[in-house]
Amino acid sequence: MELYIDTANLEEIQQAHDLGVLDGVTTNPSLIAKEGVDYGKRLEEICRVVEGPVSAEVIAVDYEGMVREGRQRASIAPNIVVKLPCTAAGLKACKSFADEGIKTNMTLCFQPLQAWLVAKAGAFLVSPFIGRIDDVGQDGMDLIHQIRSIYDQYGYNTKLLAASIRHPKHMLDCLLAGADVATVPFSVIAQLLKHPLTDIGLEKFLVDYRKAFGG
Ligand code: G3P
Repeated sequence: MELYIDTANLEEIQQAHDLGVLDGVTTNPSLIAKEGVDYGKRLEEICRVVEGPVSAEVIAVDYEGMVREGRQRASIAPNIVVKLPCTAAGLKACKSFADEGIKTNMTLCFQPLQAWLVAKAGAFLVSPFIGRIDDVGQDGMDLIHQIRSIYDQYGYNTKLLAASIRHPKHMLDCLLAGADVATVPFSVIAQLLKHPLTDIGLEKFLVDYRKAFGG
């Protein structure tokens, strides 16, 4: 499974990149607003750090606006993936970009039929939002299983990118469900290596060693 970081914070992206296991980045308008920076400039900066896919969302909600903005975003760097919502206009724009050879990430996916349609339109990635489905009392992982099964059954090439991941259990469930990619905040990436027995064990190794040899 590929690992993307879900942030527009350059420091977090650099730190995750330095771990050596980062495959890409996803951004969205809320994440850019949090940073208070120009979206285009920040994308340029991110693409200088990360070679893998960098998702850049459009702000427009109409087809023409999405195509115009998406082309601008795609011209920033060759690894930009245009992020579009799973709406009728988004679906139409997805098909246009697929015909032009521009990769898309279809976001705000909350049900399997949206994932089916965007796969038919030639999306590169689809982003089902696990955490936000959990937030309304349903099980976000059900959606991952359903999309996996549909894509495998019909041989669609669209990559299943699990988004809105809130904790390590979501990550483990995504790995077991066969998601192609998971995009996660830096805080969750940091949690993935954590185990109290690792810290206790390391401390004991060092204490024993120092007892025997000093230092
Ligand atoms: O990038 C979109 C998605 O990952 C948002 O996550 O936590 O805001 O639901 P969250």
